[in-house]
Amino acid sequence: MSETEETPETQGSEEAPINSPEVEAAVENTGEPELAGEMEASDEAAAADNSIGEGEQQLEDEESVQAEVTSEPEPVEGKGFVASDGAVLGRDFVIPGVGPGDNDPYKWHTGPKQETSNNAIEIVDVVKQFGRTRILNGLNLGLPDDQISMVLGPSGTGKSVLIKHIVGLLYPDHGDVIVKGDSVPSLSDDDLFEMRKKFGLLFQDGALFGSMNIYDNVAFPLRQHTDKGEEEIEHICTRRLREVGLGEAHFKMPNELSGGMRKRAGFARALVLDPEIVMFDEPDSGLDPVRTALLCELIKEVHAENGGCYMVISHDLGTARRIADFIAVLWKGRIVESGPKEELFESDNEFVHQFLQADVVGPLAMD
Ligand SMILES: Nc1ncnc2c1ncn2[C@@H]1O[C@H](COP(=O)(O)OP(=O)(O)OP(=O)(O)O)[C@@H](O)[C@H]1O
Ligand SMILES: [Mg+2]
Repeated sequence: MSETEETPETQGSEEAPINSPEVEAAVENTGEPELAGEMEASDEAAAADNSIGEGEQQLEDEESVQAEVTSEPEPVEGKGFVASDGAVLGRDFVIPGVGPGDNDPYKWHTGPKQETSNNAIEIVDVVKQFGRTRILNGLNLGLPDDQISMVLGPSGTGKSVLIKHIVGLLYPDHGDVIVKGDSVPSLSDDDLFEMRKKFGLLFQDGALFGSMNIYDNVAFPLRQHTDKGEEEIEHICTRRLREVGLGEAHFKMPNELSGGMRKRAGFARALVLDPEIVMFDEPDSGLDPVRTALLCELIKEVHAENGGCYMVISHDLGTARRIADFIAVLWKGRIVESGPKEELFESDNEFVHQFLQADVVGPLAMD
């Protein structure tokens, strides 16, 4: 049996096979019993929350979602929002945060503000449903190349699900995901494997292999995916580790580092293959304000030097102000609005205004 088949992540889960080094690390942290024992509890929780492919966790989620759904009231006949595929909200599916009789859940959604021809990633009319719960419902979004984009949105709206579609770990029920001109859902396994080499992925808490020192963690993608010699690998890893301020930490084990250092090590590992696209799922969670600011500076500096499409998911408005060139706000399975940072922070859209000003008054309530 191959490694992929062995992992619990793939058993009974809808998710696609896993083969990116960062993904493998995240999975190994959650899935392999012998390594799981070496991890700190916090690592395990972080990987379960943010890593791609935690099947057991997701199956639990799905069960709880199903349980919630059965208690939803039936909509009044003739009412309710009808999706583009003819499915009726409340009867055929539910959307978190949307009442079953809501005829116009997208009244705040003005969608992407600008079409740009220079998009590294295009999400086109993507629909994704788990059980009866529709997480993405006709999502359209273009992420510009050579910019730092941020996807913001309330908890549980599908930001991590969106990343999984971009790297081809989840497939849309409808619609398309185009990365650098290739339709990800149509790629063969071999082509998907090749495409994932274009990605650097940074998970919450770094998702490092607990059994390897920092240097070996950072060298892992190079040893796994290239035929570079150890001398060249050392050159690359030393440069990347120095760049993230871990020049002295080569021989430390992940559990000897602070959360911020682990994130920086994860960032160094995400960069070693010179990725064209780097995705960060909540890089700032669990960091104090000063470390968050320092990590933001680092992301900006590295982006300025290397370029590429960076996509950052975060709840932190300070992070958005500091590093974003482009912002997209996700809610109810679609983009409420997206565009250059300045425009979004000055938006007169009530939801975007409420969310970006962290205002208690507005369409978003604590339900
Ligand atoms: N494989 C799956 N099976 C069933 N439900 C899933 C699966 N993956 C995600 N979900 C559900 O989709 C919803 C969105 O999850 P997601 O992790 O994308 O949210 P998020 O926007 O990243 O939230 P947070 O900001 O808290 O990280 C959640 O209700 C989650 O339970
Ligand atoms: Mg998430």
